[in-house]
Amino acid sequence: MARVVAQVVAQVVARCDDPVRTVDFINAPRNAPGRFFVDPRLTACRTGAAMFDTKTRAIVVVGAQWGDEGKGKLVDVIAERADWVVRYQGGANAGHTVHIGDHSTVLHQVPSGILHPGVRCAIGNGVVLDPETLFEEVDALIKDGVDVSGRLYVSDRAHLVMPYHKLVDKESSASREIGTTGRGIGPCYEDKIARRGVRVLDLAHADRLRTLVERGVEHANHVLIGTGSLKRASVEHTLEALGRLAPRLLGISEDVGLAMHRALKNGAAVLFEGAQGSLLDIDHGTYPYVTSSNTTAGGAATGVGVSPRVLDECIGVVKAYTTRVGGGPLPTEYDEVMGERVRKLGNEYGATTGRPRRCGWFDAVVVRYAVRVNGLSALAVTKLDVLDTLEKIGLCTGYEIGGELVTEFPGDLAALENIRPHYEWFDGWQSSTADARTIEALPSQARKYLDRIEELVESPIRYVSVGTRRDQIIGL
Ligand code: GDP
Ligand code: IMO
Ligand code: MG
Repeated sequence: MARVVAQVVAQVVARCDDPVRTVDFINAPRNAPGRFFVDPRLTACRTGAAMFDTKTRAIVVVGAQWGDEGKGKLVDVIAERADWVVRYQGGANAGHTVHIGDHSTVLHQVPSGILHPGVRCAIGNGVVLDPETLFEEVDALIKDGVDVSGRLYVSDRAHLVMPYHKLVDKESSASREIGTTGRGIGPCYEDKIARRGVRVLDLAHADRLRTLVERGVEHANHVLIGTGSLKRASVEHTLEALGRLAPRLLGISEDVGLAMHRALKNGAAVLFEGAQGSLLDIDHGTYPYVTSSNTTAGGAATGVGVSPRVLDECIGVVKAYTTRVGGGPLPTEYDEVMGERVRKLGNEYGATTGRPRRCGWFDAVVVRYAVRVNGLSALAVTKLDVLDTLEKIGLCTGYEIGGELVTEFPGDLAALENIRPHYEWFDGWQSSTADARTIEALPSQARKYLDRIEELVESPIRYVSVGTRRDQIIGL
């Protein structure tokens, strides 16, 4: 590890000699009627790679809707200048897609920085780690020619997703109602909070491991009986699977909190990669239709083991419209015909489960809420190109609930049952945005739409993505 840190320091020292690349549009005064209309400053458009500078060393990327916003693509773009990319929550429920050339890679547990050869990746203590699928993913990367050796670490404190967690997740009717991914995420976090979890570091102690697994299996079987399932977890089967995977996992186990602390102290650029979306946060999302972790920015500090004070910026990723997979409210959901049309245009099928995603108009109430809860410093708007052919585009500005206009996202889902979303309507631009690389190259109607989003959600837009590929992005 000392060698790794020394290499990082050397890289950072070399990078500190670079000129500062950032033009600070975030704090720059805004021109009425909006930055995207006519702003000569924007001719100095930057690429995503210029995000880290000498002052900005720790950036958090979070989903600011219900997940699948395009975090994988953005992390891949920003990671070009990162030394480390670290995951801090969730687990194999995530599906982060990165397209390079014609090849597409879906990452579930490995951070999306792995496709940049010089970037190191870590999985923090806040992640629930499924060792079985982790190594399947790693082996697939190796097969694709990605050199992973010496570049991937897992926290010794991360909790392990056991075969019995996946079994309970799949057999539970509550999971079915929520529409979980079936990856054992909820049951594993339950065991963690109930203090009967198994951590990576336990793999090094055979007796302790057996005791913990016995306790976990006993609880899982108790739950399975409660669900009416005839399936049962087995201690021996679990220990056999862990025994097979332990040497490989212990070989990459590290005190990730300490490693990130040292890296940041030495000036390294660290990207904290969020999974899922803010509205799926266990505390701030549409409970109980949520995942079981803190997906919002606060989770980055606790999920890696660094101080919240080291986090310099938080970028929220949003689609130019809205999607969600699984149950729960989606206030701006399209009717069936429009839903099918946008699903086809945006290829909206889950990267983890293949399920069709539910689609709707951009909801500014939701994103403004995410801006507040995360303290977003900027937004990345993805999939603008998906709207290219639409005649009219709706933007939700508030909800009418019981005759009143509400613009703050409610905590009680019952309030969302009989609402009428208020929309502003925009003429579609009906031309391709896929080749735009500057904001001026976007049609004026598209800029108008982005301007209004910026205004309503109270956060500047820093990236606009117009296609799946790495180069299809506009940096502001
Ligand atoms: P994540 O979970 O937030 O990383 O997002 P997913 O990978 O699950 O889903 C986003 C999907 O949109 C992926 O298939 C991406 O390749 C794709 N995507 C990302 N940005 C864009 C974009 O700007 N335009 C289009 N058309 N697709 C995009
Ligand atoms: P990424 O990182 C979209 C959803 C599931 C379900 C709920 C709970 O790719 O954006 P879980 O398996 O976590 O207990 O399921 O959360 N969900 C996601 N939706 N993107 C994801 O990840 C998701 N991870 C979980 O569909 O509704
Ligand atoms: Mg996804």
